[in-house]
Amino acid sequence: MNENKRINVGVVGATGYTGLELVKMLVKHPFFHLAYIANSEGGTTINRLHPSLNGVCEDEVKKANIDEMASTCKLIFLALPHKTAMAYVKPLLEKGVKVVDLSADYRLPKDIYEAFYCPHTDSVNLEHVIYGLPELNREAIKSAKLVANPGCFPTSAILGLLPFMDKRSKKTPIIIDAKTGVSGAGKKLSEVTHFVNVNDNLFAYNPLMHRHAPEIANKLNVSFDEVNFVPHLVPVTRGMISSIYIQVTGNFDALEVLKEFYKNDVHIRISEKPVDMKNVAGTNFCDIYAQKRGNVLFITSSIDNLMRGASSQALVNANLMMGLDESVAIPDIAYVP
Ligand SMILES: NC(=O)c1ccc[n+]([C@@H]2O[C@H](COP(=O)([O-])OP(=O)(O)OC[C@H]3O[C@@H](n4cnc5c(N)ncnc54)[C@H](OP(=O)(O)O)[C@@H]3O)[C@@H](O)[C@H]2O)c1
Repeated sequence: MNENKRINVGVVGATGYTGLELVKMLVKHPFFHLAYIANSEGGTTINRLHPSLNGVCEDEVKKANIDEMASTCKLIFLALPHKTAMAYVKPLLEKGVKVVDLSADYRLPKDIYEAFYCPHTDSVNLEHVIYGLPELNREAIKSAKLVANPGCFPTSAILGLLPFMDKRSKKTPIIIDAKTGVSGAGKKLSEVTHFVNVNDNLFAYNPLMHRHAPEIANKLNVSFDEVNFVPHLVPVTRGMISSIYIQVTGNFDALEVLKEFYKNDVHIRISEKPVDMKNVAGTNFCDIYAQKRGNVLFITSSIDNLMRGASSQALVNANLMMGLDESVAIPDIAYVP
C-alpha cells in the first residue's frame, strides 16, 4: 500500500496513558495513517505532552471535534473515560466512521452497565456492538462498525478461564486474585495512587464489587455471584496478573487443554511454568499457565494492562475491522530485562 492509500485513523484521548500507546504503534503502522490526534483542550503538539515522541511524532493535538474526525478518518480510537466515550460514539457512527472504544461504555448490557457505572444514553448502538476479544469474536469483529475493547482485568481473567469453562464444576465459585500496575488507573491524580501510598505497598481494592467482575461474569455466561474477583494494586508502572482458582471435574492435562484451545491464536502463549509480568510488558501477548491437583485447577494469566489490556488489543481489533492481518504493527518483543 503506498502512502496515499493508507487508511486515515485518529486517536481521541491521545494525551492519556492508553492514547500514548496507540500513538506509538500507529506512527509505525504500514497501512494506517495517524491523521487526527485530540484531547479535551487541543492547542499543543503530541510531543510536548509526551516528550518520548520528540523527533518521532510532533503532530498537532486538536480539541476533539466530531465533524473534523468524520471528514478526516475512517476509524477512530476513543481512549476516553467512560461516559465521555458514549457521547462520541453515536455521532461518529452516524457519519460512517468506525469506532474502537477503549472505555467500558459498550461492554455490557444496559441494565448491568447502569448498575455499575452510570445511566446509558445510547441503547441503539448497544444492540449491535461487538465485544473486542479476538479469541472470542474474531469473525464478528471483522465486519463490526463498533467494537467495545475489553477491560484489562477481564481480558486476563477471561483468556485464562475460557478453555476450562466446560470442565468447571457447575456453580462452584470462580476465585480471581488479580494484581495490576498503577497505570491501570489512568493519568488523573488520586490519593490512592500517590507515590507515597503505592511505593513499597500492596493492597486490595473494591474486593468482590469491582466493575470488571460483572464484565467477566457476562462474557463467561455465568452469574455475578459465581465470580469472586479481588484486584490488588502493586507498585509497578505497568503489568497485570490474574491468579485464578476453580473446581473442575474429569482427568485432563491442563497445559494440553490450553495448547489445543489456543492453537490458532497468535497472541496467546502457553507457558510451561507460572507466568510473570515482565515477559509480556509492551506486547500484546497474554501468557497463560495452568496446573491441576485433584479437582483444583490453578490458572495464572499475564498481560500488559496498557497493551493487551487496552491499546494493542484495540489495534488488533482495528486491523481486523479494516481487513488487515491482526498482527500488523503489534509489538511482540517485551521490555526485558
Ligand atoms: N489504563 C489502563 O490500563 C486501561 C486499560 C483498559 C482500558 N482503559 C480504559 O481506557 C480509557 C482511557 O484510559 P487511560 O488510562 O488512557 O486514561 P487517562 O490516562 O486518564 O487519559 C484520558 C484521556 O481522555 C481525554 N479526555 C477526557 N475527557 C475528554 C473529552 N471530553 N474530550 C476529549 N478528550 C477527553 C484526556 O485528555 P485531557 O488530557 O485533555 O484531559 C486524556 O487524553 C478509559 O476508559 C479506561 O477505563 C484503561
